[in-house]
Formats: sequence, structure tokens, C-alpha cells
Amino acid sequence: MAESMKGLHRSHRCTEVSRENIGQTVTVMGWVQKSRNKGGIIFTDLRDRSGILQVIFEEKECGSAVFEKAATLHSEYVIAVEGVVEARQGAVNENLATGDIEVRARSLRILSESETPPFPIERDSKTREEMRLKYRYLDLRRPDLQRNLMVRSQVAMVTRAFLAEEGFLEIETPTLIKSTPEGARDYLVPSRVHPGSFYALPQSPQLFKQLLMCSGYDRYFQLARCYRDEDLRADRQPEFTQIDMELSFVDVEDVLEVNERLLKRLFKEVCNVDVELPIPRLTWKEAMDRFGSDKPDMRFGMELHDVSDVVRGCEFVVFKSALEAGGSVRGINAEGQAGMPRKKIDALVEYAKGFGAKGLAYLAIHEDGSYKSSFAKFMKPEELDALVAAMGGKPGDLLFFAADKNKVVFDVLGNLRLELARQMDLLKKDEFKFLWVTEFPLFEYSEEEGRYKSTHHPFTMPMEEDWHLIDSDPGAVRSKAYDIVLNGTELGGGSVRIHQADIQEKMFEKLGFTPESAKERFGFLLEAFKYGVPPHAGLAYGLDRVVMLMVGADSIRDVIAFPKVKDGSCLMCEAPSAVDPAQLAELGIAVEEQADEPQE
Ligand code: AMO
Ligand code: AMP
Repeated sequence: MAESMKGLHRSHRCTEVSRENIGQTVTVMGWVQKSRNKGGIIFTDLRDRSGILQVIFEEKECGSAVFEKAATLHSEYVIAVEGVVEARQGAVNENLATGDIEVRARSLRILSESETPPFPIERDSKTREEMRLKYRYLDLRRPDLQRNLMVRSQVAMVTRAFLAEEGFLEIETPTLIKSTPEGARDYLVPSRVHPGSFYALPQSPQLFKQLLMCSGYDRYFQLARCYRDEDLRADRQPEFTQIDMELSFVDVEDVLEVNERLLKRLFKEVCNVDVELPIPRLTWKEAMDRFGSDKPDMRFGMELHDVSDVVRGCEFVVFKSALEAGGSVRGINAEGQAGMPRKKIDALVEYAKGFGAKGLAYLAIHEDGSYKSSFAKFMKPEELDALVAAMGGKPGDLLFFAADKNKVVFDVLGNLRLELARQMDLLKKDEFKFLWVTEFPLFEYSEEEGRYKSTHHPFTMPMEEDWHLIDSDPGAVRSKAYDIVLNGTELGGGSVRIHQADIQEKMFEKLGFTPESAKERFGFLLEAFKYGVPPHAGLAYGLDRVVMLMVGADSIRDVIAFPKVKDGSCLMCEAPSAVDPAQLAELGIAVEEQADEPQE
């Protein structure tokens, strides 16, 4: 029978007990990590969220009743032990914070027994993730996940403290709202009172935080739950948390400045990393030209080189046709990789094709200065020399070239650059390279839909100097949007907002909204803008991503207590699930017969 806590008080967490307590009586509680009976003496490793402490039961000290009870202990039993702290008799365990002490038990209570868990509770678990997620409450006992969630808590605490000091107010916004556009699908919630009508769960608090600026709150923040029905990846969840903020009477500089100090404080306090300020900046165009990505990993170089002008006029049809079609030829230099085996190169060509490349041309420079290349036969020797020189190629280097539309070339080389860095072991998890990417294009052209879409969202302010291009060349208009990037991951993004009704209306028009449809969706915002709205700007971080990078996790799931898997389901509570027909009837909802396979 499980015993009670009556009259017991925990005096220390396991690793709070130290040499300083030697000779004192302590009361510790936790889970049995393991218990070994060595004849007259039982060694029990007691675990709580702080770590492990060794407890010793010896019959002559604790008496036969306690000893016999201790002999029944198994892994994951929850126990309370009262005992005396002493220096460790056996070898000191360097791996434990409490490796030089132990507690000699005087009394024991078994607060709860445990069945044998389906997998061992240990660091670096080898158990399949599906299994661990099914029993997430056990998985969460593992020290690596406990550490991740502690870091997460600390990130939230430090953020709150910093923003409060800077004059930000924490204000909650609703999670049953009218749909806000951020580019993903909404999760919908049916209304019982208004059959046939639906709330949307917020993709972000975007419109509400802008309205708070209209209402004069000046500086707002929130640790906001956001919901997006999009395809999941290692760094995406259908519900996630943003550190969301909005500021009035500011321009780009003001937002970046306060956020640089927030990042510096966070990384120093939480993981003792010094973030050097100012954080470097690249415009979107520079980032694309130099790294082929709008979120470049700055831990290594391997920049792109535009060699279009160098190869213009050569007869290699791949290069020629790309240039004639208005595209470009660009390359990267994998230094010291000339010896890469053909098989590995072929695999990289296939990898490039996964990003839309029709092929990938390469050229290895041997130590004697001769070349081995997939396209040498199509070019004159002096053309090859000029190309190698433009790439800064030297003996031992391996050059890769992509020729296509710019978008494809960037995508291919940007990703190839990352893959090469992985293979060349250039990505160090303990290195933190921040970057601001600014001046994003205001619009992206969607080939699928045959229209312009917002790169960020429709409330983003165009740059004043490009406004005259809004009708003649919308694709060339830059915006006051910025992203904060860390080690090739987009940590956060934001923008200066439009606060002028006429510019906002023009934006809606460009995005294909009729005045009626704009009014129908955003009428309350447009209406609010009639009554005096301060210039304002903001930013939101993915809190989960911040923590993921801080702890070096490979997946966002490792920093979320109860995450969902790729198809959006929770393996533990088995959501989503069918509901009672009576519930549906109440909502006026009829469910059509579904195909067996879940829809993407
Ligand atoms: P954005 O859509 O760029 O901007 O989102 C901000 C940050 O939120 C994180 N994020 C995610 N994290 C986990 N799972 C997801 N599915 C997911 N989607 C986004 C990213 C991203 O950088 N309202 C604007 C912000 C603003 O303009 O102030 C917004 O939501 O780290
Ligand atoms: P081919 O003449 O098809 O054998 O192509 C010669 C080389 O050019 C091969 O290494 C191809 O992989 C490469 N190649 C083909 N298309 C492209 C492209 N769009 N960009 C870069 N290289 C390419």
C-alpha cells in the first residue's frame, strides 16, 4: 500500500545535498533510478529533477523492517528517505554532482510503487521516438528532456523580466478569433451558438497587437500560443509559442536595438553565451547573392560567386541557355575537397536535383594544377582558367556550378552549401552566429496562383524609396521587414507596419482583395485606423526554436512538453479523435465518410 506524506517534509532536492551537509539528517524524495542489493547492504540511486543521489540501506543502521522494505524497491518506485549525509565510502563518482557523498538511510516510505516502465529512464535514450511519445510522461522524466524544459522555463522568465524592465506590458489576446492571414491554413472551431460559423485559432496575435498600439499601449509583449495547419518539419509544430512584441513610435532601428539587447541578455543568462553586438546585418538581396538563402548559416563561408559574366560567350550549352533565358551561372568552392570520390559527387548532384537543379557541373583542381571536370570538354582551356580564377580556386579545391533561373540557382547552391558544410563538419553546435536579414521583398509572385502574395504579411510597410514602383514593378519593392537568423534557422521575424489607410488599401488591392473582401476580413483594423494610429512595428520569435538552438536539440519536439508528430496527432492522448455524434449534432455538423488515409 502506498504510504502518505503525513509528517514528512522534503528538506532538499537530490543534488542540493552536498559535502556541506555531512553529519546532518536530510529528508529526500524522488524516484528509484535503480536499487542493488549486495547482501547486507542496498545501494539505491534516488532521482528527482535535479539529478541523482546515492542512498544506502544497511540493516544494522536502519533496522530490519526498513531494510526489508528497501529490498522490495524497484525502478521508478517513488520513495521518501530520511538519513544522515556522509562522505562516500566507496569510489567517488565523478559523473554525479553528488558523487562524493551518500545518505545513510534511517527510515523509508514507499509513496508509490511502479510497474516496470516500457523503456528505461535514461539520458540519450535509444528507444524509438514513437514509443517515447506514447508514454511522454515517462519520457519527460529523462534528464535531457528535463534540462530542455528547465531551459525553456528560464528563457520565458528572463524574457519577461527584460521586457518588463524595458517598459513592455504583458497583455493576452484571444485565441478564438476571426482568421488572420499569415500564409498557413487556419484551425477552425465551430460555434454552437452560431451554427455554420467558425472561430479560427490565431496563427499569431498580429492584428490584436496592432490594435493594442491603436489603443495606446505603446509596448506590448506576450508569450503567445499560435496555431498553424501546415506541413510539419523538424522545426515546425501545429501549435507553438511566440515571444511576440509590438512597439509604437518606432522605426526598424528601434526594434532591432531592443531585440539585440534581449538576445544578449537571454543567451548570457541562460547558456552563458556572449552575443557580440551589434548583430551583423545583410539585406535580403545580399543574403541571397552571397549565400543563396534568406536565412544563411554564418558559421562558415563557402559563399556563392556569380560567374555569369565570366562564362558569357562560352559554348557550354548548359551555361549558355541559362544566361540566354535571363538566368545566371553561379558556383561555390568546396575548399580542399578535390579528392571527393565520384560516388559522393554523384550523390551531391542528386541532392541538388531535389532542389530543382537540372544538373550540377563540377570541376576539381588537382594538386598539379590540372582539372577534372564534368564540362571541361565544352569549354576552352583559357575559359576554364578564367572561371577557376573567378572562383578563387586553388589546387585541392572542388568547384560546383549551377545554371538556371536565379531562384533555382539560389535554392540549389544555398542548400548544397549547407550539405557540404555538414559533410565537412563545419557546423559546430556550440557556436552561435546571429544575423539580421533586412529589406525583404514586399511581394512574392506565386506561380501557382498567378498573383503577388505578401512575403511577410499584408500589414508590412514598403520602403519609402521604392513606393513609386508599386504599380510598375511590384516585385522590386522592398519592405521594412526583418528576420533574426541564428545558425541558419529563422528564429523570428517582424516588420514596421503600415499605419496609413491609403497605403493599406493599395496593398490590399495589389494582393487581389476587392474593397469589399478587404472590409469583410480586416474591416475592424481598417476602421480602427480611422481614429488615430501611431506608427508601429514589431517582431515575434519562435520560442521553441530559440530553446531548440540553445540546447542543441535536433527537433523542436525535444523542447516541447507534449508535442505532436508529423501528421499532427498526439500519440499520448490520441488527439485528434472522433467525437460523440451528439456533440456534432449540437454544432450542426455532419461528417462525410472519410478516406482511410489522413489528408495532407
Ligand atoms: P512569422 O510567421 O515569421 O511572423 O512567425 C514568427 C516566428 O514564429 C516561429 N514559427 C514557428 N515555430 C514553430 N512551429 C511553427 N509552425 C512556426 N511558425 C512560425 C518562427 C518564426 O520566425 N505576426 C508575425 C510577427 C510580426 O510581424 O511581428 C509572425 O507571426 O521562429
Ligand atoms: P551533360 O552535357 O548533360 O552531360 O551535362 C554536363 C554537365 O553539366 C553535367 O555535370 C551536368 O550535371 C551539368 N549540368 C546539367 N544541367 C546543369 C545546370 N542547369 N546547371 C549546372 N550544371 C548542369
